Amino acid sequence: SDGLLIRGGRVVNDDQSFYADVYAEDGLIKQIGENLTVPEGVRTVDARGLLVLPGGVDVHTRLQAPALGMAPADDFCQGTKAALAGGTTMILDHVFPDVGVSLLAAYEQWRERADSSACCDYSLHVDVPRWHESIKEELEALVRDKGVNSFLVFMAYKDRCQCTDGQMYEIFSIVRDLGALAQVHAENGDIVEEEQKRLLDLGITGPEGHVLSHPEEVETEAVFRAITIAKQANCPLYVTKVMSKGAADVIAQAKRRGVVVFGEPITASLTDGSHYWSKNWAKAAAFVTSPPISPDPTTAGHLASLLSSGDLQVTGSAHCTFTTAQKAVGKDNFTLIPEGTNGVEERLAVVWETCVATGKMDENEFVAVTSTNAAKIFNLYPRKGRVAVGSDADLVVWNPKATQVISAKSHRLNVEYNVFEGLECRGAPVVVVSQGRVVLEGGSVTVSPGTGRFIPRKSFPDFVYKRIKARNRLAEIHGVPRGLYDGPVHEATVPAKPGGGAQARASCPGKISVPPVRNLHQSGFSLSGSQADDHIARRTAQKIMAPPGGRSNITSLS
Ligand SMILES: *[C@@H]1O[C@H](CO)[C@@H](O)[C@H](O)[C@H]1NC(C)=O
Ligand SMILES: *[C@@H]1O[C@H](CO)[C@@H](O)[C@H](O)[C@H]1NC(C)=O
Ligand SMILES: *[C@@H]1O[C@H](CO)[C@@H](O)[C@H](O)[C@H]1NC(C)=O
Repeated sequence: SDGLLIRGGRVVNDDQSFYADVYAEDGLIKQIGENLTVPEGVRTVDARGLLVLPGGVDVHTRLQAPALGMAPADDFCQGTKAALAGGTTMILDHVFPDVGVSLLAAYEQWRERADSSACCDYSLHVDVPRWHESIKEELEALVRDKGVNSFLVFMAYKDRCQCTDGQMYEIFSIVRDLGALAQVHAENGDIVEEEQKRLLDLGITGPEGHVLSHPEEVETEAVFRAITIAKQANCPLYVTKVMSKGAADVIAQAKRRGVVVFGEPITASLTDGSHYWSKNWAKAAAFVTSPPISPDPTTAGHLASLLSSGDLQVTGSAHCTFTTAQKAVGKDNFTLIPEGTNGVEERLAVVWETCVATGKMDENEFVAVTSTNAAKIFNLYPRKGRVAVGSDADLVVWNPKATQVISAKSHRLNVEYNVFEGLECRGAPVVVVSQGRVVLEGGSVTVSPGTGRFIPRKSFPDFVYKRIKARNRLAEIHGVPRGLYDGPVHEATVPAKPGGGAQARASCPGKISVPPVRNLHQSGFSLSGSQADDHIARRTAQKIMAPPGGRSNITSLS
């Protein structure tokens, strides 16, 4: 029998804790209860005095995305091994399509690589780095046939993958109709590029130039803009890599106003970003990531507080690592340093240390932000993110009293530097179980590459879409029925199409008779909204905006 009994531990879910045995078989949790009777000879893990948590879900890794043609140091095999060692039993990796590769082809590349080498279960987000005509068909196919329900757009990386506001609006509208999540890398790429040029002109070429060219305001501004666009499109928004206080506060305020928005602080945002000024180039370069780790020493505590209060709900690692030799491609020019930091192995310990050991968060909230909320947002719940009968047997036996010191000497990564070097963490995994098998025990990891399964995700996750659907139904807008205006009309020159940027030359500026109405049919956005579940016949509403403060002869249409 491949049964496994975890005896005498305290089971911790996001909503409650209780003492119980947990029995797993065939990769699933089969029984939970006191003094379980199980078949003879079943392997038993003694968890007395320890916590039994659902395995961590890391919402953000890049174990395959190349930078300047270089593959990351920690690939699917090494990265998932490190994840398991730290108590994470599922990752969501980002597919990043190269120039000339379609989203679907890139997805297949990722699947092929991960299926043969991932050691833990995984799922995929797909990045949309370039606008193209067939985008809608590709997103549809990914949602319908490929188990993807989240797509990332970039507001930075000018001339490479930066999206305009108009493109974002259009993509968000498509994503909403498909019942998926819009993710955004939020930084104002135009300003970043100008700052990079300015710093290089000043002769600043080292990693400090990276953090100086990404001031926190460019993150804050972009997050605000992304939220504005998502709210207009009534699309749920997920902000990856929340690194600064300003960005986190904008998300928290929007959430309190009722916007459906999620913010993802990463492991590295809970540490110290002052090392960009280190005299050791290699060490400083190891911290280069975008948005950068905040050099403000109060940031980590602030993010931990917002995570604890529920304003931020989920943590990832954004694990994407490069060796010192790879980072050294940018030794004379910080804009060429491949970006990314470690964190997939350290995430649970760092969150426990900064949030639970400091008394900001309890064990249940810890489970929520490291596992359960991620599973709910991305529609993996309760298969993942919960210790319950029928859920996958992905479990962590956690010792809240253990301490560990993070160091590159002992980490399970293929890089020379660890951005958490020397951090002492209270709390550590003792035993980790993936698909019902013990993969970490006595400090050693036993995995077999290729055992990780692709976990498809359905569209319209309830946790996200119940509110979006309700708002779609409420968002019907009607024009004002009125007679045709038949008075005199001033002569004006309407700019010829497409007129990008051209100004209407009216005989009297300010009295242009061309109303600035955007073409709602062209944009693909219907104010009346349409949802896969809407079977109710709709009346056709005129898709025009009511004039602000106009003398509208309001008439009920129903
Ligand atoms: C489980 O066993 C312990 C120790 O033998 C005992 O104290 C406890 O009452 C038992 N619980 C139940 C529900 O039988
Ligand atoms: C640094 O690299 C960028 C490309 O990222 C390039 O445009 C720029 O000219 C380089 N500057 C110097 C001073 O090498
Ligand atoms: C307002 O609309 C009603 C019904 O269509 C019409 O009978 C009435 O004359 C209108 N009033 C004005 C001021 O246009």
